[in-house]
Amino acid sequence: MTLTVGVLASGSGTNLQAILDACASANAPARVGVVICNVPGVRALERAGAAGVPHHVVPHVGRSREDFEALLQQHLEQHGVELLVLAGFMRVLTSDFVRAWSGRLINIHPSLLPSFTGLHAIRQALDYGVRWTGCTVHFVDEGVDTGPIIAQAVVPIQADDTEQTLHARVQREEHRLLPEVVRLIAEGRVRIDGRRVLIADLPTS
Ligand code: GAR
Repeated sequence: MTLTVGVLASGSGTNLQAILDACASANAPARVGVVICNVPGVRALERAGAAGVPHHVVPHVGRSREDFEALLQQHLEQHGVELLVLAGFMRVLTSDFVRAWSGRLINIHPSLLPSFTGLHAIRQALDYGVRWTGCTVHFVDEGVDTGPIIAQAVVPIQADDTEQTLHARVQREEHRLLPEVVRLIAEGRVRIDGRRVLIADLPTS
């Protein structure tokens, strides 16, 4: 059985690309069924097109949050999405939407949560002066970047780092971590236990 994944993105879509590449490999347990962007003309749409994946633009501008999410929901249902991945999706979703997708909605964030939630996480880490940062993949709950943590990767901060150089190194880890989590979920190995996420080993046969 292959898990059908939906991806929401707002920009360049390098994390989307990492998922598309992983899903293209033989015996991948997941496939990307649809990509939806809230910003027209972004690179993520081109990436979906190049991979032959259905993609839609649902602009958030000029519509209420409820209408925006109702349209998202229509596309997700139409494409049979079972797991929804926020990969650089820069909109906060309503509690109703998050509840409807509870346990099936994950996000990647460019910090070691719970530090540096919200926008400009890389800049926040640099400004704070921490020595280590990284990225986190977590289930989405009704807060901003507060849901149960599935996986994290650590990145050292160098004295001469700029926002760009540090983000590039964090993204290298993101591109490894996010497809890995999608795979673990597709293999049925991820379970939420309160605030903790348990990951089962593959049965040896
Ligand atoms: C990624 O670094 C992701 O962690 C971040 O946006 C970038 C999107 O890059 N997400 C957030 O900051 C969410 N709060 P991409 O479009 O190249 O995947």
